[in-house]
Amino acid sequence: MAVLILSKPISPDAFAQALRERGFRHPIHTAIADADPAQVRWLMAWRLKSGVVSRLPNLELLMCCAAGVEKLLEADDLPPELPIARVVDDVQALGMAQYVVHAVLDHLRLAATYRAQQAQRDWTRHSVPTAERTVLVMGMGAIGRRIAKALADLGFDVSGWSRSGQQVPGVRIHGGADGLRQALPRSQVLVCALPLTAETRGIVDRGVLSALPRGAFFVNIARGGHVVESDLVELLRSGHLGGAAIDVQQREPLPADDPLWTAPNLTLTPHVAGQLAPGAVVDQFLLEVARREAGLPPMNPVDPRRGY
Ligand SMILES: NC(=O)c1ccc[n+]([C@@H]2O[C@H](COP(=O)([O-])OP(=O)(O)OC[C@H]3O[C@@H](n4cnc5c(N)ncnc54)[C@H](OP(=O)(O)O)[C@@H]3O)[C@@H](O)[C@H]2O)c1
Repeated sequence: MAVLILSKPISPDAFAQALRERGFRHPIHTAIADADPAQVRWLMAWRLKSGVVSRLPNLELLMCCAAGVEKLLEADDLPPELPIARVVDDVQALGMAQYVVHAVLDHLRLAATYRAQQAQRDWTRHSVPTAERTVLVMGMGAIGRRIAKALADLGFDVSGWSRSGQQVPGVRIHGGADGLRQALPRSQVLVCALPLTAETRGIVDRGVLSALPRGAFFVNIARGGHVVESDLVELLRSGHLGGAAIDVQQREPLPADDPLWTAPNLTLTPHVAGQLAPGAVVDQFLLEVARREAGLPPMNPVDPRRGY
């Protein structure tokens, strides 16, 4: 019985080390060439190529070592009965909520304007609208709910959008395409916290962004693939959007000639909103292994058919 860790580009060594520190008593491999495929019972991975899983005849659990699973599900040879789990980490969700709160307040409290004024020794005051601010969070999962709570606690009027329309305490929930259409025109801030699936790829396009009120602010902490970036740049340039903060881009690392770098009122960060400690990932892996041994389904299951 052995675990295989194929987490690149995330280094597998930190996961292997965290497993050893927790007294994991089975062989740990970080390359398929080093493992006896018949011995591999558990696979931890982030991106998975087709043809890997079919070489592991006794695999019992596939564990994504991150929250987003779209790269894992690129493999086309995942047996339908193979249990798949992913990481759901409160500390990561809190970090992402902090990122969004910071981005939204930085924009609404005119931080860039005051930094520029300070450089000019300019003491001009600007009024900050005190009316309630409306926010729509697309995706009411582990991360979207934490973001919604953080903003609601600060007095924002928060709505959420999800596939099922399942109720979340303290948040007005919209479901389906109609729900989104109705919610956008009254949302001064739009936050994307969706998983990247066939249904959500390119979902934040000209239609969605231009349905927001003029001057709205957009934050993306999910995946670059959710956004039609040329539409985002155009709506920032036209002034329809008042600003945006994007932690994720379609091309990562972002090439130096990408128009996003110079889009007006855009803050761009290199996929750092939610960081996971290797120990947190390994603890969840061990929990999922124990559940599997006890004949229980994963605590944080992934459904390859729906893509998240
Ligand atoms: N930037 C970073 O550093 C970073 C770090 C971690 C994660 N992420 C990203 O954040 C994403 C969200 O993570 P999570 O843990 O919150 O995911 P999750 O718990 O799986 O939640 C996904 C949410 O999106 C909704 N959804 C899915 N497909 C939809 C659709 N077609 N239309 C409307 N709603 C839809 C789901 O609806 P239901 O409630 O109806 O199922 C659910 O509310 C991850 O997939 C990952 O890509 C980014």
